Amino acid sequence: MGTTRVEIGTLRQMKQEKLPITMVTAYDTPTARLLDEAGVDTVLVGDSAANVVLGYPDTVPVTMDEMIHHTRAVSRGLKRAMLIGDMPFMSYNINTDKAKENAGRFLKEAFAAAIKLEGGDWVVDVVAAMVKAGIPVVGHLGLTPQTASLLGGYRVQGRSAQSARKIYQDALALEQAGAFMLVLECVPHRLGALISSRLSIPVIGIGAGNGTDGQVLVFHDLIGIDAGFTPKFVKRYAAVGQLIREAVGQYCQEVRERAFPAPEHSFEIPDEEFAALEQAIPPR
Ligand code: KIV
Repeated sequence: MGTTRVEIGTLRQMKQEKLPITMVTAYDTPTARLLDEAGVDTVLVGDSAANVVLGYPDTVPVTMDEMIHHTRAVSRGLKRAMLIGDMPFMSYNINTDKAKENAGRFLKEAFAAAIKLEGGDWVVDVVAAMVKAGIPVVGHLGLTPQTASLLGGYRVQGRSAQSARKIYQDALALEQAGAFMLVLECVPHRLGALISSRLSIPVIGIGAGNGTDGQVLVFHDLIGIDAGFTPKFVKRYAAVGQLIREAVGQYCQEVRERAFPAPEHSFEIPDEEFAALEQAIPPR
């Protein structure tokens, strides 16, 4: 794996050469560093930060300032991977000027290379305006968590010909508006493959089957630190949550038994200095 920065042209070429693109979420510097060292192509500071690391019930409450804070932290851990910041709910929904201003903050204040936003035809004008202003945009279709309640909850999208066609048309519209990549979440695998084959921009799937141009997973799902529910499309590659419980449990036990810290974790004072100290302070 080289160290040359992944850019839009790199991703376009990977699609042309049919090399799958990898994307993983991150919310802090050490995780970003590990993902970069592991060779991940693109790192998304998802608004999933809301429920994954900030303890909110869903993605709706997370603010621009919180997303900028996490994106800045992630930027400090990356050398090669492209950094993408996720625009939170209502940061691009009020008007185009506000949307451009907020998107610009990800680039100027948090050193992101691009932003991602959710939605189909209703965001096309905003996407075009951002691209015109020089802001690279990633679209997000299918299950869009910020508006999940309008979609009937967290469920597979595009299962009827009519709804699948709508997602396909929205994908074309986003490509036409200038989005350079698309995230497609929770759609049937044949729809994922169809949209990927019809678009010239890379399509990154999550729960969209094996026929997309790349895959994205939430880091905490991938390594097995989760709050309980695991969606069908997640594959766990490690059980880090269990490792953490065991390690911290052992630490607590050793502290309680005075087995930690051991002599090798402690510092010395010369005997004569300690004797002088004892002389100098009378017993209480
Ligand atoms: O917020 C997020 O983490 C996402 C990915 C799951 C695509 O949007």
